[in-house]
Amino acid sequence: MGRLINTGITKEDTVLETNLRPQRLDEYIGQERIREMMKVYIRAAKERAESMDHVLFYGPPGLGKTTLAGIIANEMGVNMKVTSGPAIEKPGELAAILNNLQEGDVLFIDEIHRLNRQVEEVLYPAMEDFAIDIMLGKEASARSVRLDLPHFTLVGATTRAGLLTAPLRDRFGIVEKMEFYSTGELMTIVKRSAGVLGVEIDDEGARRIARRSRGTPRLANRLLKRVRDFAQVKYNGDITEEVADYALDILNVDRLGLDQNDREYLLTIIEKFKGGPVGIDTIAASLSEDSGTLEDVIEPYLLMNGLIQRTPRGRVATEAAYTHLGIESLGQQTLKL
Ligand SMILES: Nc1ncnc2c1ncn2[C@@H]1O[C@H](COP(=O)(O)OP(=O)(O)OP(=O)(O)O)[C@@H](O)[C@H]1O
Ligand SMILES: [Mg+2]
Repeated sequence: MGRLINTGITKEDTVLETNLRPQRLDEYIGQERIREMMKVYIRAAKERAESMDHVLFYGPPGLGKTTLAGIIANEMGVNMKVTSGPAIEKPGELAAILNNLQEGDVLFIDEIHRLNRQVEEVLYPAMEDFAIDIMLGKEASARSVRLDLPHFTLVGATTRAGLLTAPLRDRFGIVEKMEFYSTGELMTIVKRSAGVLGVEIDDEGARRIARRSRGTPRLANRLLKRVRDFAQVKYNGDITEEVADYALDILNVDRLGLDQNDREYLLTIIEKFKGGPVGIDTIAASLSEDSGTLEDVIEPYLLMNGLIQRTPRGRVATEAAYTHLGIESLGQQTLKL
């Protein structure tokens, strides 16, 4: 989806995120519960001089999964090797990555649900016994040899926990769901990022950006950058409520942080399917979008804001959705104001 407030990663983000990414657990804002638990697990593992148990983080894009993996490595004082599900094509490639790890290292596999089956099978003994089985010789004389690996921590990240196979999922000792951030937490993130970028921002300016960031730090940082441009060109460089509102209106990010895609999703349910209930596959077909993307990227935020409901018969747009879009709901019939 080519949208400004796409929560997925863009090229610009890669550079930006390296600078803005917190390095330590203390700098990591929000996700209170996860942070408290990580503190305990990291400390316990360090005291025992062991590697930390394997961790799986799941949740919508841009909430800080990659960041947390890096923090775990930093706090444990080990290196992190980064790869992703689609990047590993053959079992031998994963075997080589595993074999090159140092004792205690973190192996981060992004989009872990996209590992292919054969590659995934290499992970099972690696995660469980820190070993891999390799075949030597050919045909009749072939035999399998077990190769010991250094102890390591696998950190897996996925936006699609539902697509993970049971055997893989079961091998993670720690499975954590990432939550959307509150406005207050996002304000703190925006102010910290503004500091890193060297731009002045006041509380109200930060609040405006935070509120329209869809609960997502990646988006908060991206909007901050865009607003900074407007502050520089149209104002005196500082970010205030006025600058933020001006820029965000031009950028077409609404009061709840919904963008064109979110609005189209809601309008589809309301206008084409009378407000629902309508099945996710039907909505997806109507929008020419993949239903998995709708479920993992679009819907979580709309659900959290009470704009839609999931029912056994399909998705339903709530009163709040009609109100937000300025559409009057007349029972089953709808009328655009
Ligand atoms: N808790 C946080 N505190 C401060 N900044 C954060 C936090 N979480 C994320 N960020 C910021 O948001 C950016 C995106 O986070 P990150 O790349 O970790 O998301 P992600 O969950 O891995 O997303 P994806 O699923 O798309 O890979 C980071 O570069 C960082 O600047
Ligand atoms: Mg990531």
